[in-house]
Amino acid sequence: MKKRFLLFSISLVLISVIITSLISINVNIKNYISEKETSLLTCCNLINMVILEELENGGKIDYKMATKFFSEQMDIRLTFVDKEGNVIFDSSQGQRSANMENHLNREEIREALLTGEGRSSRKSSTLDAEYLYVAKSLEYSGETVLITRMALEINKLKIINDFLVTTSLISSLVGILAAIVIAIAYANILMKPINEMEEQLKATMKENKKAERIRKDFVSNVTHELKTPLTSISGFVETLQDGAAEDPEIRTKFLDIIAIEAARLKRLIEDILIISDIENKREVNTDSDINVRESIEEILDSLGPVIEAKKVKIVTHYAYEIYIGGNNDRFKQLLMNLIENAIKYSHDGGTVTVSAVKKEGKVYISVSDEGIGIPREHMPRLFERFYRVDKSRSQKAGGTGLGLAIVKHIAALFEAEIQVESEQGKGSTFTVIFKG
Ligand SMILES: Nc1ncnc2c1ncn2[C@@H]1O[C@H](COP(=O)(O)OP(=O)(O)OP(=O)(O)O)[C@@H](O)[C@H]1O
Ligand SMILES: [Mg+2]
Repeated sequence: MKKRFLLFSISLVLISVIITSLISINVNIKNYISEKETSLLTCCNLINMVILEELENGGKIDYKMATKFFSEQMDIRLTFVDKEGNVIFDSSQGQRSANMENHLNREEIREALLTGEGRSSRKSSTLDAEYLYVAKSLEYSGETVLITRMALEINKLKIINDFLVTTSLISSLVGILAAIVIAIAYANILMKPINEMEEQLKATMKENKKAERIRKDFVSNVTHELKTPLTSISGFVETLQDGAAEDPEIRTKFLDIIAIEAARLKRLIEDILIISDIENKREVNTDSDINVRESIEEILDSLGPVIEAKKVKIVTHYAYEIYIGGNNDRFKQLLMNLIENAIKYSHDGGTVTVSAVKKEGKVYISVSDEGIGIPREHMPRLFERFYRVDKSRSQKAGGTGLGLAIVKHIAALFEAEIQVESEQGKGSTFTVIFKG
């Protein structure tokens, strides 16, 4: 693209340089000729003045002498013609001048006889070259006695050559160089936004592809996750129908399993709905001021049975009353998922610490545990939907792997940042930094 643009602009410049050169060469030749004409006419006038003086003084005119200086020093052909057109003397012919043909038919001579001054340019029939002719008549005692004619060879090629070498070539080269520099600079400026657009387009396409892959993965994961508890439920129901229901002990056991699987199914669907609600920007409640301490206490209350079952010790730590602007239900959902994880992945009797502090206008809410921790290599994928470090362990604990995906979605709603610190076997700390 850039190359094509450069090629285009450089050829444009070249064409215009060639055209202007051709025009200026032509103008130059015309100027050169008219300049020469004027100076030749002046010379003719001078010679005529000298001759006139001689005539008035009754002296003899030495034509050969008169032509000597011009023909030898200036390479100018000088011809004297009488009013009948007979050549009196011609510097190029010398003694043979008398043999020359009558010059009355020469344009410049005819013009000089009529108007006193004549000019023309043509190929000389006497000498084989293009000549510029200038003629001036000399009047004596009221009549034309002589025509002084000067001829100068016009070597057009030489003029062009001189011109090209001196002015045209140098200025053209400078012009081309300047044009190339400008074209390159301009191409860079012009191409920059186009290149940037191309990059952006590539990035968007990459993102779209990734989004599409995630969506496909999600659909297949959901199907799989829904199928597992459903298969289990229908399996146990069938067994009960086949007679297992007769045994009260088996019946109770199977019904318990069915209840657990049904609850799991319900939670899974609830979690998927939460994510889809956030993604589709369907808000449940309007924004309000969230009392962080109150919300955390409500969450811990509702988690009471789980805390008790695991014999986990809960430590809370609030610097002072802290408020966050936003949707309270979403906020509680986020913290609930983090605290639930901290309890779930703690050892029995472990400690879970929940703290809220305000620092530099931001609110830091941390949930720490002393549980199993997360191996480093799993950290980057932790917040992906259905991602679980130990699938079987999480599944046994009733997890679906959507908890942290929901945390990530809600944090984005609050424009909050999430930090994770964890060491395998030592415990984990999840910190959410709210704008306050
Ligand atoms: N505090 C923690 N300590 C150790 N591992 C954790 C902790 N929190 C999350 N994880 C790991 O991250 C995975 C993803 O967590 P997430 O909350 O998304 O799913 P889950 O807890 O398995 O299921 P769900 O939350 O949907 O019931 C978990 O399976 C677990 O392996
Ligand atoms: Mg979880």
